[in-house]
Amino acid sequence: MQENNVMPDRLNMLQRIRYSIFPGTLQRPAYRQRYRNFFNSLFLHFRPRSVQERTLRFTLTWGLGGMAVVLVCMLFGTGLMLKFVYQPVPDRAYESIIHLQNNVLFGQLIRNIHHWSGYMLLIIVFLHFLRVFFTGAFYPPRQFNWIIGLAMFLAVLTSNITGYLLPWDQLAFWAITICTGMLEYIPGIGNWLQGLVRGGSDIGSATLSIFFAIHTAIIPACLLVLMPWHFWRVRKAGGLVTPRSPDEDEDSEDEKVPTIPNLILREIVVALVLIAVIMVISVLFNATLGAKANPGLSPNPTKAPWYFAGIQELLLHFHPLFALFIIPAFMLIALISIPYINYQTATAGVWFGSYRGRHMAAVAALTAVIITPIGIVADEFVIDFAAWLPNIPGEISNGLIPFTLMLTATFLFYMVMKNKFKSNNNETLQSVFVLLVVAFIILTITGIWFRGLNMKLSLPG
Ligand code: HEM
Ligand code: HEM
Repeated sequence: MQENNVMPDRLNMLQRIRYSIFPGTLQRPAYRQRYRNFFNSLFLHFRPRSVQERTLRFTLTWGLGGMAVVLVCMLFGTGLMLKFVYQPVPDRAYESIIHLQNNVLFGQLIRNIHHWSGYMLLIIVFLHFLRVFFTGAFYPPRQFNWIIGLAMFLAVLTSNITGYLLPWDQLAFWAITICTGMLEYIPGIGNWLQGLVRGGSDIGSATLSIFFAIHTAIIPACLLVLMPWHFWRVRKAGGLVTPRSPDEDEDSEDEKVPTIPNLILREIVVALVLIAVIMVISVLFNATLGAKANPGLSPNPTKAPWYFAGIQELLLHFHPLFALFIIPAFMLIALISIPYINYQTATAGVWFGSYRGRHMAAVAALTAVIITPIGIVADEFVIDFAAWLPNIPGEISNGLIPFTLMLTATFLFYMVMKNKFKSNNNETLQSVFVLLVVAFIILTITGIWFRGLNMKLSLPG
């Protein structure tokens, strides 16, 4: 191998330094190729050697899964740095954040990156979930990956909730008081579960250590297991779904191209753009920090974190048993069942399944955009089952009755869509999914921006 080495005396200073660190880089091409092959094959242990050319189209994945991975890495990196300064006890938590922001080099920036990446991750994972649904990537053989995805969604949500408490300011304290208060309404185990999560009857030092342990150890450990499992399932399914137009045959052949550089370059570009966006946001906008938590003074209105604003909004229209338990449990069961329903066709890779599916999805979205605000305003000013039926328990007048009405309306929507469009069950169920998702987004927007003093409807600002 001696003859392959470049003589060190023919090198300039920079080359000599580089040579001392990476001896392979200055050697003859054949030798360099061996280094490259070595690194490539190391890398290809966890990536496929080649991918279908069509799956590289940006309009299949929109880079969302990859962005989620990058954000999780950024959260792990910045989270570990925050751990050096943050102190998870009520007397010191808030002060440690102030110290981090004022006295630690780049402390504020690192906190900002963690804060915005956490929020962005939730949005990106939600969009990824929608893209997976609308491209039919949950049909066999990908059913179980959908379930792993849902578990990761829950993990990311739990990370955000537990992280929310850590700064120990008024916003954090009262938002988590509301969130953990919601647990009370789970029949049978509600009070026990609430005590377990809070580490007692109130939010205090036990709650902070529990949330800190969940945030910095348990959820990261779960993600470290779930993520590789998720990616392994993508590979076991033979890669991503092949995107195709509704008229195209499922078996239409596609060319394979090497992962390096075709996929890798695209992934690097998406990652760099995302990192740049997060950096710009983190430089321009600081993570909020209110006054130190004061258990004796609740703000008005007391709002849950923004990602729970939809559920908090439901609470204004339904009895808590329905808003906090029965409706979310229904939704969760529906989400878990999605890949296991007996569908009439399998349309993996076709956005919205068919041209008719696209049309129906648009009609469903428009229906939700019109009906939901009307329902919210009507319930605020006109409908009041509790006052109309004073002798009936709240669970029925404010719970069972409006819930049954909602279910009936959803069923009617299903039947009308099915008859009007002469659609199969894939398309009709998809339109119901769109209706519910858009309605939930509108409830969330209303909760965040259109609820003011005493949670009354009001314009933002
Ligand atoms: C932290 C959360 C998540 C991460 C890091 C993640 C990551 C990824 C990545 C990198 C891919 C391949 C590229 C892509 O499709 O963009 C993928 C595919 C997939 N993900 Fe996720 N995902 C997450 C959450 C979810 C959720 C919430 C679901 C659904 C409930 C889901 C279901 C799937 C499925 C079924 C595929 C295969 C898609 C196909 O074959 O076209 N994932 N995920
Ligand atoms: C999916 C992963 C994660 C998400 C979504 C997430 C989210 C969050 C959020 C939203 C906050 C509140 C930030 C604020 O408003 O100030 C926070 C705080 C914090 N997180 Fe994470 N985090 C994640 C992972 C981690 C990891 C892996 C660690 C450490 C091992 C960590 C350590 C911390 C610490 C020490 C704080 C308190 C500092 C502060 O509030 O600024 N996080 N996290």
